Amino acid sequence: MFKEYGRMNIAIIGAGNVGKALAKSCLKAGHKITLSAARAEHAAEAAKAIGAQAASSNEEAVKDAELVIVAVPYDSLGDVFRGLGSLVDGKVVVDATNHTNVQNPGEVLGGISNAEEIQQRHPNVKVVKAFNYALAARLAEPSVNGVPLDGFVAGDDQAAKDKVLELVKSIGFRPIDAGPLVIARVFEGMALLNIMLQISHNWPWQNGWKLIGPPED
Ligand SMILES: NC(=O)c1ccc[n+]([C@@H]2O[C@H](COP(=O)([O-])OP(=O)(O)OC[C@H]3O[C@@H](n4cnc5c(N)ncnc54)[C@H](OP(=O)(O)O)[C@@H]3O)[C@@H](O)[C@H]2O)c1
Repeated sequence: MFKEYGRMNIAIIGAGNVGKALAKSCLKAGHKITLSAARAEHAAEAAKAIGAQAASSNEEAVKDAELVIVAVPYDSLGDVFRGLGSLVDGKVVVDATNHTNVQNPGEVLGGISNAEEIQQRHPNVKVVKAFNYALAARLAEPSVNGVPLDGFVAGDDQAAKDKVLELVKSIGFRPIDAGPLVIARVFEGMALLNIMLQISHNWPWQNGWKLIGPPED
């Protein structure tokens, strides 16, 4: 199943819709998952329900992890990274977050991305953007009618990005290297557009992104 990286030891910070959905697909692919949450009991409950490990703090979750996925609300990012301090220096950290404002989308679309903000504040972290453009249902099952959705990955560190591309592929997306971290702005726009479509058309929160045309694999 795996090529270069094999089974990954992954910490997921956030045990809500996204944390649980990603934990499920990563576990199915054979990775080792440790979940943390703001309240340790939430991480424990979520982990028990899906067969993952739980940590009593974010610090404990990332200690032995080779890859960290951040799946918390935008407003919690400051707290999370302050708490982690230098524990994530040199590690690959995947930012799966969005800053959503459906009433005033321009507020989100005009600024830098969450991922760039994290990278600017924590230059020693290898920040990679992925997963944020996918609804939770599609993170748990990244295909529709057997067709793999596109798993876009952006980042400035090629080795870190390659590792995340391998992860994205292992859970069932078609992996696509989308370029530098600044492209995270586009991913956050894609997420906002998908959310606004679900709301305005009363769609069932199941759609995912797929570019059609060659190459097909
Ligand atoms: N929902 C989606 O379909 C979707 C898809 C892609 C991306 N996103 C983005 O992904 C992020 C998470 O969304 P979600 O829907 O999963 O939210 P959610 O269901 O509200 O879950 C948020 C999780 O973050 C945890 N958390 C908050 N502050 C924390 C902290 N300081 N340390 C550790 N954990 C903390 C919460 O802990 P407790 O459980 O203890 O409260 C909770 O488990 C958001 O940025 C969202 O915009 C959402």
